Amino acid sequence: MDGAQVIPRHQTAITRPHLSKPVSLALADGILRPELTLFDYGCGRGGDITLLQEMGFTAHGWDPGYSPHAQQHAADVVNLGYVINVIEDPAERAETLASAWALATRVLIVAARPDWEARTVSGHRHGDGVITKRGTFQKFYTQEELRTWINKELRYNSVAAAPGIFYIFRRTADAETFLASRTRHRAVSTRQPRIRQALYDAHREDLNALASFIANRGRLPEPEEMPEPSDRLLRGFRSLNQAAATLRTIIGSEDWDRDLEQARHRTEQDLLVYLALAAFRGRPRAYELPRDMLLDIRGIFGSYREACSRADQLLHAIADQRALNNACIRSQIGKLVADALYIHAAAIQSLDPLLRIYEGCARALTGTVTESTIIKLSRTAAKVSYLSYPNFDKSPHPTLSRSLRVDLRKLDVKFTDFRESTNPPLLHRKETFVALDYPGREKFARLTKQEERAGLLLETTTIGTLSGWEQRLKDRGYRLAGHRLVRIADRD
Ligand SMILES: C[S@@+](CC[C@H](N)C(=O)[O-])C[C@H]1O[C@@H](n2cnc3c(N)ncnc32)[C@H](O)[C@@H]1O
Repeated sequence: MDGAQVIPRHQTAITRPHLSKPVSLALADGILRPELTLFDYGCGRGGDITLLQEMGFTAHGWDPGYSPHAQQHAADVVNLGYVINVIEDPAERAETLASAWALATRVLIVAARPDWEARTVSGHRHGDGVITKRGTFQKFYTQEELRTWINKELRYNSVAAAPGIFYIFRRTADAETFLASRTRHRAVSTRQPRIRQALYDAHREDLNALASFIANRGRLPEPEEMPEPSDRLLRGFRSLNQAAATLRTIIGSEDWDRDLEQARHRTEQDLLVYLALAAFRGRPRAYELPRDMLLDIRGIFGSYREACSRADQLLHAIADQRALNNACIRSQIGKLVADALYIHAAAIQSLDPLLRIYEGCARALTGTVTESTIIKLSRTAAKVSYLSYPNFDKSPHPTLSRSLRVDLRKLDVKFTDFRESTNPPLLHRKETFVALDYPGREKFARLTKQEERAGLLLETTTIGTLSGWEQRLKDRGYRLAGHRLVRIADRD
């Protein structure tokens, strides 16, 4: 058989959805870094080049079958990946190796198929290899054979990178640096993080988009939920799952797992509240739900039916004032007093789902009360009040302007206007109503400490309204300068 004319060598090139083994190994080993250029000699369909370019690398290549007119040029790293094994003529094989080496200013990567793969390929012998059923040629190398051949042809000592893969460094110092790094770390344990770091650097923006999706929803997206980033990520990683695993390595598994768990918990609670409240207007059927919500439900509860049954359990508890009272007592957030739990409207989402549903039932009657600052959840009767304190942020002790009380048993809504009142109720200890991250919370807490030290918050019966509080300040010789307590005699 007359080699090149007859044997369709180019047919050995496969479409690569992922980086080839020698290229991904070079990334993992730090041989190929973003600041270095790569030339892929015998690049086939150019899969490695495209993927590397997408990762931000400067990568080009040439192939006699696919890109014969591409320019051959020197590069820091040259890859000769699974080329020599498809050339049936030993002399041309050696020439090809020499040509690739001539372009490599720092390192040449040579990959060839190892001998144990011969078993998986049937065909008939041809020269020192076989002609496969598809009519292509394959030469399988033992590790030693490949090493000796490279060293003899190039007169350089190659370094085995993996079975069937060798690095040939132009400078001895580079070879030694690589070998030293390999003895310092165990190869297996360093490869993954390194390649992950390289992949992370290359896909930073898309990985960040993936991370924020996961942090919001507590689950992986379906590719169609973030089509463009997914598309790009799926070229660098085998799956979004693997991309997420890379994020976990980079971010640290403990932080990642904790954030994920919190996100799942939040999504779970949001869905339970939504599904419980949806029961009042007639729950949609599964196919009527938005697709992303259905995916959340399946990801977290397993099925829509299971999610609805969990939401129903909460709905039953709503009718039980004792269960509501217990939830108020257990609440980590809000100000608990004898007959109610008070909470800032911005923190309502952080409440236990049962209390959110309690409040949601009231909102179903009133609609959103936009000007409400504080929400009062009664512990003793099924009543929710929306209280408006327009000066909540600015005033150290804001006064009540309006209230809307919803009686869930009587389905009755009562409005009270305090704007003309000369002695409206007012708030103390503002930090107790808000979430930990509420702006100004520390300032509120500092004032409370000052007021406690000054004994102003004892005997609370009279200080709950404006005139009682002003009298208390006066009696004890204090006044307020913003959120600061000052002695009347003191100068500011
Ligand atoms: C198995 S493919 C490998 C392609 C690519 N490096 C990869 O790993 O996906 C072998 C390639 O070697 C190319 N090839 C054949 N003879 C060559 C030669 N003398 N010099 C360079 N490339 C050659 C073929 O056209 C084919 O695309």
